[in-house]
Amino acid sequence: MEIPEINKDRLLHDLNAVSRIGLGEGGSVTRLVFSVHELRSRQLLVHLMNLAGLDVRVDAAGNVFGRLPAGRDAPAVLAGSHLDSVVQGGRYDGPVGVIGALEAVRTIKESGLRLPVPLESVCFVGEESSRFGFATLGSSLLAGDVTMDDFANAVDAGGTRLEDVLSSFGIYRENLASLKRDPKTIKAYFELHIEQGPVLEFKKKKIGVVTAIAAPSRFRVVFRGQADHSGTTPMEMRKDALVAAGYLITYIDEVCREYASADKGRVVGTVGAIKVEPGVINAIPGRAELQVDVRSITASSKRKVAGRIKQRARQIARERGMKVELLTIREEEPVALHPRLISLIRTTCEERAVPFEVMPSGAGHDAMQMAKITPTGMIFIPSVNGVSHNPTEWTDPEDICLGTQLLVETLIRAAHAEI
Ligand code: GLV
Ligand code: MN
Ligand code: MN
Repeated sequence: MEIPEINKDRLLHDLNAVSRIGLGEGGSVTRLVFSVHELRSRQLLVHLMNLAGLDVRVDAAGNVFGRLPAGRDAPAVLAGSHLDSVVQGGRYDGPVGVIGALEAVRTIKESGLRLPVPLESVCFVGEESSRFGFATLGSSLLAGDVTMDDFANAVDAGGTRLEDVLSSFGIYRENLASLKRDPKTIKAYFELHIEQGPVLEFKKKKIGVVTAIAAPSRFRVVFRGQADHSGTTPMEMRKDALVAAGYLITYIDEVCREYASADKGRVVGTVGAIKVEPGVINAIPGRAELQVDVRSITASSKRKVAGRIKQRARQIARERGMKVELLTIREEEPVALHPRLISLIRTTCEERAVPFEVMPSGAGHDAMQMAKITPTGMIFIPSVNGVSHNPTEWTDPEDICLGTQLLVETLIRAAHAEI
């Protein structure tokens, strides 16, 4: 098979250009979904896709598609990821998959290679849950696996509701389903991504071939005690919502450690955000809100742990004479990726004699949603020290180039293959 070589300088240059948008202290990157910075990153992508001569389309939610047509209209092979980021994140979580897919598609276009099906490089809007608590927004809309009711508790720190942002784009309950893409128009979806964990580096492997993705259960816990004077209220008469929250946080850590082993599902649980009211030094907290994220590759373990956490929250509130509200943000099921695509990626690695590891993903990805409507595969590249969602997140440029080159080869194989 004739395989065109990517333009490494162009790939790294464009990745660097994206990472400058939203650059902050210590090299951190912040591009929260629908912020000015995140919007600018998608504008840059549209510009790069136009320069590459791709047919560009942006849907009502802001998902961006750059299409390389084939001689005939056939289901397309898609590849992509996201450009939004967490708060003070790194430069590669998402952009590697978006710019990598763009580089792969424009490399194939320039080579003049004729493929039997169209290719599309994609940027999904709002993969990160950092702003609204709601993850993989654009890919969920594309997969048609979301309703307006699912956004009920998706609110940002400033009180802006995701539902209101969407309605400002003309997306309402009535037309939400129109964003769903007909699965018949897609042959397969691939996502190149940094591993965001230590396994590849530890095992000295260059590529991860992903088998499954751990899905999160996410919910808010709101303890309602009583705000009161911090100097005059005796300890035994307090209803301190933050103290209740503190006990729950400790419990989450304990129960997840209990379920940490492989046979118990390797459950992980995190309280990544907390809001305290009134939030001043001289008042007892009357309200404490926690955002809880519980994940596992094993659905039953995740469900069990999430259930225990909720039960404990109710118990803590009862014992302390408080009210507690449990608000679901999103309940997801872990997904297995497609065996045929896993095998295509393996073959690509084997033919190039690239050492690879077959492994699950602990992080969430747009691939999780795409797998609901089309055969889906993921390629991981190593993360230095396994660090991600952190300004020091780093991947060796040579590894980014290798992953992108393997994506080119995998896309060509998938375009020809029976899937
Ligand atoms: C996405 O990075 C996630 O939160 O898994
Ligand atoms: Mn991320
Ligand atoms: Mn990501």
